[in-house]
Amino acid sequence: TENMLWGGRFTGGLDPLMVQYNESIHFDRALFAQDITGSIAFARANAKAGIITQDEFNKLEQGLLAVKKEWEDGTFKIVPGVDEDIHTANERRLGEIIGKDVAGKLHTGRSRNEQVATDMRMWLRDELRKIEKHLQDFLNVTAARAEQEIDVIMPGYTHLQRAQPVRWSHWMLSYGFAFASDLERLREVIKRVNRSALGCGALAGNPFGIDREMMSKELGFDGLLWNSMGAVADRDFVAETLQWGSMLMQHISRWSEDLIIYSTSEFGFVRLADAYSTGSSLMPQKKNPDSLELLRGKAGRAFGHMAGFMMTQKGIPSTYNKDLQESWEPMLDHVKTVSDSIQIANGVLATLSIQPEKMKESLDPFMLATDLADYLVRKGVPFRETHHISGRCVALSEQTGIPMDKLSYEQLKGIDARFEEDISKVFDYEKSVEMRSAKGGTSKACVQEQIQVLKSMIA
Ligand code: ARG
Repeated sequence: TENMLWGGRFTGGLDPLMVQYNESIHFDRALFAQDITGSIAFARANAKAGIITQDEFNKLEQGLLAVKKEWEDGTFKIVPGVDEDIHTANERRLGEIIGKDVAGKLHTGRSRNEQVATDMRMWLRDELRKIEKHLQDFLNVTAARAEQEIDVIMPGYTHLQRAQPVRWSHWMLSYGFAFASDLERLREVIKRVNRSALGCGALAGNPFGIDREMMSKELGFDGLLWNSMGAVADRDFVAETLQWGSMLMQHISRWSEDLIIYSTSEFGFVRLADAYSTGSSLMPQKKNPDSLELLRGKAGRAFGHMAGFMMTQKGIPSTYNKDLQESWEPMLDHVKTVSDSIQIANGVLATLSIQPEKMKESLDPFMLATDLADYLVRKGVPFRETHHISGRCVALSEQTGIPMDKLSYEQLKGIDARFEEDISKVFDYEKSVEMRSAKGGTSKACVQEQIQVLKSMIA
């Protein structure tokens, strides 16, 4: 225990399993660069406050950069049982390189509590900004496809039953707007993640008059966390990221589910590129949409991390408690899952081929039953009545086996005398789609407008 940073008051050794149980180095080493950058900023501010000399600062900075280089080159040797976390490991190695006299001054007034919050916030901010780019790319592909394939019409479903014809682009944009809302939310989350905890000490603040604003600027934060106890206590920024990512994964999962259904032989609307499918070891004909199934499956994993960490955080008393170390692994895994998933989804969409003929074949005249009712509405008949009349046309078609659009004018007239010759014009899928011309609808002009709105949200 005497090697430990906190070993002064301890005499007995730790239980060996406790050593492993306690240490976080095997995952928090991923943030070695943030830890060192944060330490340099802290040392610089301590020099400015007159706590260390300029010369000492120079030694600390050079030493810290040398430690960083070892991590980058893969030569850093973790000392098992001593390097309990990334902060401890870096400081131990710094002491070996520049000597303990100067290295021992780095931590003046500092606590690992502020350090860990600072490292995680810096890392998360940078990762979320990368994710923001991936999401923009995905949305750009969505918008571009929606533009190119605007003339393709497909069956729209409710309850997975054929409902009304819509543009294929309209379907793509329905998810596009969900992802655009995720993008808006992400930008909000980044603002709250990117606040500085450095200079808050263990909980009560810094006693050496350290310039927190200066450190915050150097580290690229947008501002300070304003209460030192709160700054070291919360991992709300992790929880909010997990919640954000869960919503996004929910959208990805539903999007995937639609495409899985559309890619079956029964539907045949889309075909996945080879790059995102796999075969069967037994059945030579198989091409399975594994990419989409994994996207759907990984949503469960993302939600699990979110729910799990909410549980962890809920009962923790004020300020730092070791429970908070349990925020790391959900964060690291969740961020990777979300980032990879967006990129995979983008790849799937960018390489997907569509089968417009199959979509067309799946349209059936019953999907125009509402249009038939609307026809009579335009002749002044109340909708409740026209709904019923159209229902009788559906029934007649079912009884006779004659498709609804092939029922004779006389047959329709027999059901309601207000049908006129022009009723035949109702049975036109393109026309049905074009009728939905109020904003947000599936007419061509509306879809074009949606594309413009979506693009403005991406920018
Ligand atoms: N490894 C710790 C964590 O991730 C760092 C903070 C340790 N602080 C402490 N007071 N033991 O939470």
